Amino acid sequence: MIADLVLRNATLPTGRRADIVVADGIVRHVGAAVRADETVDCTGYTCLPGAVDMHVHMRGGVQAGKEDWRTGSTSAVAGGVTVVVDQPNTVPPLTTPELLRARIREAEERTVCGFAVNAGVVPEADLAGMWGAGAMAFGETFAAPSSYGEGLDAETLRGLFARIHALGGVVTVHAEEVSGRAPATLADHDLARSGGGEARAVQKIAGLAPAGMRLHFCHLSTAASIEAARGTVEATPHHLFLSRRMFDPDDTRARVNPPLRDEETRRGLWSCWDRIDVVASDHAPHTIPEKSVPFETAPSGIPGVETMVPLLMAAVQRGRITLASVIEKTSWKPAAILGIPRAGFEPGNRADYALYPDEITRIDASHLHAKCGWSPFEGLDAVFPEEVIVGGTRAYAHGELREAHGAWYPGQGYLSRENK
Ligand code: DOR
Ligand code: ZN
Repeated sequence: MIADLVLRNATLPTGRRADIVVADGIVRHVGAAVRADETVDCTGYTCLPGAVDMHVHMRGGVQAGKEDWRTGSTSAVAGGVTVVVDQPNTVPPLTTPELLRARIREAEERTVCGFAVNAGVVPEADLAGMWGAGAMAFGETFAAPSSYGEGLDAETLRGLFARIHALGGVVTVHAEEVSGRAPATLADHDLARSGGGEARAVQKIAGLAPAGMRLHFCHLSTAASIEAARGTVEATPHHLFLSRRMFDPDDTRARVNPPLRDEETRRGLWSCWDRIDVVASDHAPHTIPEKSVPFETAPSGIPGVETMVPLLMAAVQRGRITLASVIEKTSWKPAAILGIPRAGFEPGNRADYALYPDEITRIDASHLHAKCGWSPFEGLDAVFPEEVIVGGTRAYAHGELREAHGAWYPGQGYLSRENK
């Protein structure tokens, strides 16, 4: 056999050294090398399966000033993320199969990483139509209002959950409770969308889901919320690595839903590390001009797809978390929840990888690839990948994007229709 690509002398997460032989985007063999069109020497790097970031807002369309599929997917790849799952709170929101298909076409034309698109969840949405058209999951479902999303009440959610459960899909939920007037500071914002309110919302929503429904809670920001959750839970790098006190009281760049919390709450979130199923970025870029308005009216959301795994890899280097836990939460678990083929080190696995050096560097927004050009993680420790393989192709090497095209991953509703 002549392979497309061989990753030579790769250090697998188990510590074993092996050559990974790839053809047609799939791992064919792990062991000794064969002849290949292209070889990557992995000596000195740790080889991780590409991350699946199951919560990004790639913008595009009329919001292309914030981000588009080319810049957003380049940012993903440069951070070791090889599959992104796009949220449906686009403008207009994705509520019909036609809109979903158009979104998939827009992504296909420009993306350099693998991608999937979720279906919007509102009462008038054609949920079954979007499921058949290839939606990956349902939501994020807004149980509280957020940027580009209206909040849904309990009875509406109950009805929508029943419809999605009947289809067999995963429901992903943004759970918060909102009170008071428009906040003027990060502390006000934390009060108006409190940690306690988030935990209450989680508990209430868990109670609305029919038994056996596949429920996933997005971006939980406190230990109490995680304890209240049923199903699978997601946490973001910003709630793990940032707290309010790291910013000026009215710094709009740190405004995000759910809000950044205080230091104690942030540490409490780390104490739940083992219960967190998925780390996802909630990459939600807004431009500096959009953020440069009074706090009360500033949009919520921060960029983060490129810095997610690098921040976690620095934590691995510092001995705070295990490499195995990072692989599980950034790649294998999200893939399993969604039914995306696993990237890894066994024959038949998806050939998506990122190679990480040992050295810790600091995040410098001027080196990142998102269109917005800023990062709330500026100056934090990180380990960025030197090489990234997408679908068996070298997509990114030593700071340079190479020729790459990402595949579309349809959801189970589309796949089961195809198999009939
Ligand atoms: O801060 C946020 N921004 N939270 C969300 O749930 C939506 C997101 C956005 O799309 O900007
Ligand atoms: Zn959200």
